[in-house]
Amino acid sequence: MKTVVTYGTFDLIHKGHINILKRAKALGDKLIVGVTGEQYDLDRGKLNVEESLEQRIENVKDTGLADQIIVENYQGQKISDVQKYEVDTFVIGSDWLGRFDYLKEYCEVVYLERTKDISSTELRNAKHKIISLGVVGTGRIAQRFIPESKFVSGCQIVGVCSAKAENAKRFAEQYELHLHTDNYELLLENVDAVYIATPHQMHFEMAKKALEKGIHVLCEKPICLSVSELNALFQVAEANQAVIIEAVKTSYAPGFIRLVEIAKSGIIGNIKSVEACFTKLADPNTREMKNNGFGGSVNELSTYPLTAIVQLLGKPIAQRNEAYFKDSIDMFSRIHLQYKHAVATAKVGLGVKSEGMMTISGTKGYVYVPAPWWKTQEFEVRFENPANNSKYFHKFYGDGLRYELAEFIDLIQNGQKESWKHSQKTSIIVTEIIDTFHKQKEQQTIITF
Ligand code: CTP
Repeated sequence: MKTVVTYGTFDLIHKGHINILKRAKALGDKLIVGVTGEQYDLDRGKLNVEESLEQRIENVKDTGLADQIIVENYQGQKISDVQKYEVDTFVIGSDWLGRFDYLKEYCEVVYLERTKDISSTELRNAKHKIISLGVVGTGRIAQRFIPESKFVSGCQIVGVCSAKAENAKRFAEQYELHLHTDNYELLLENVDAVYIATPHQMHFEMAKKALEKGIHVLCEKPICLSVSELNALFQVAEANQAVIIEAVKTSYAPGFIRLVEIAKSGIIGNIKSVEACFTKLADPNTREMKNNGFGGSVNELSTYPLTAIVQLLGKPIAQRNEAYFKDSIDMFSRIHLQYKHAVATAKVGLGVKSEGMMTISGTKGYVYVPAPWWKTQEFEVRFENPANNSKYFHKFYGDGLRYELAEFIDLIQNGQKESWKHSQKTSIIVTEIIDTFHKQKEQQTIITF
């Protein structure tokens, strides 16, 4: 008996898939089909798969061509599968020509001509309207956003707006965008959604204007520095059937999602303490070092550690802050949060450098996430007996902005208003903590050194 194996995602099954399955089956007596698992697709950077694993397995089953269906969970699994299932022939489409020659050591490798003019990607694009996106602001983060957007299907960046017309023009030329303007209203007339990457103090007005027109908003963090403004934006979004999410890349990245799941799964017992640090020494001439009430390490950096703490422990019951100020700018701050049964500390600095790690301590063990934990790629669950430790690894592609954008586009296309990966509640609690830091500063109840 001759056994043949082939692999694929089989999302929105189409005639290209059926053709290859038929031809693969004709090469032997038994056909095994490997369908990619969801985590594996995320880990290999495929962010746009639409159907669940269960549905994609059903798709393959319904063709009546597969004698056995297996799930492909990790890179390199094919080597074990070929041996385990005593495969004679491995088949894949010609788009992968040469890529699986390494399997020749174990079986025959056949590349079959790909069916022309059809792919899951095309079907996904045809099914949904392409979301036209405008970028607001031309600073460092906006520049990193454009290359990242190329990895997300279903959207197209059409224009840019900046308070300075010449900056918008330069940005549009650099990234080949059709529209550049200093007139925000004009940008809003030409897009379905905006990515707001302006200085913090402009977020509220710009997000509000967009949402009032039903234009969806992906807003840099923190969306607002006050809870009342943030709540107002969520209300405007709801009234106008628009999406607004906070661009905290960490929350949407597969490694961080897995980290939260593991930490809360009971494996380390009850979580009693979280400590997370993020420092970035800043040039004294940059926006975040300016004393206009919006600079400082808490405004600039604390969203990351506070998001992690809130995702793990929720809303705190008390807060105590310590900060080192220089010219009224907090150069280094520690935010201590108290919970009924746990404590947490977020440590941020623009003028003090420290180790960017996170530890989550529990009654049975702890999770150690090395720097840069906010680009979560690896973490270790550690116990009293090191023999029980285990390490976890996940891919974090590029700058990671692709994860937040992929989620944003997905929400818009599927008519959803809120992301479970970074809920409105999470944004509100984090903003409350930042707000409290500023209030303690005004009331001079902050501990300074
Ligand atoms: N395939 C094919 N002809 C097509 C599309 C896919 O022969 N027009 C083959 C691929 O070469 C692969 C298998 O079908 O061997 C499964 O491919 P998959 O990645 O699931 O399909 P795509 O349509 O290429 O998906 P995507 O657009 O998401 O990359």
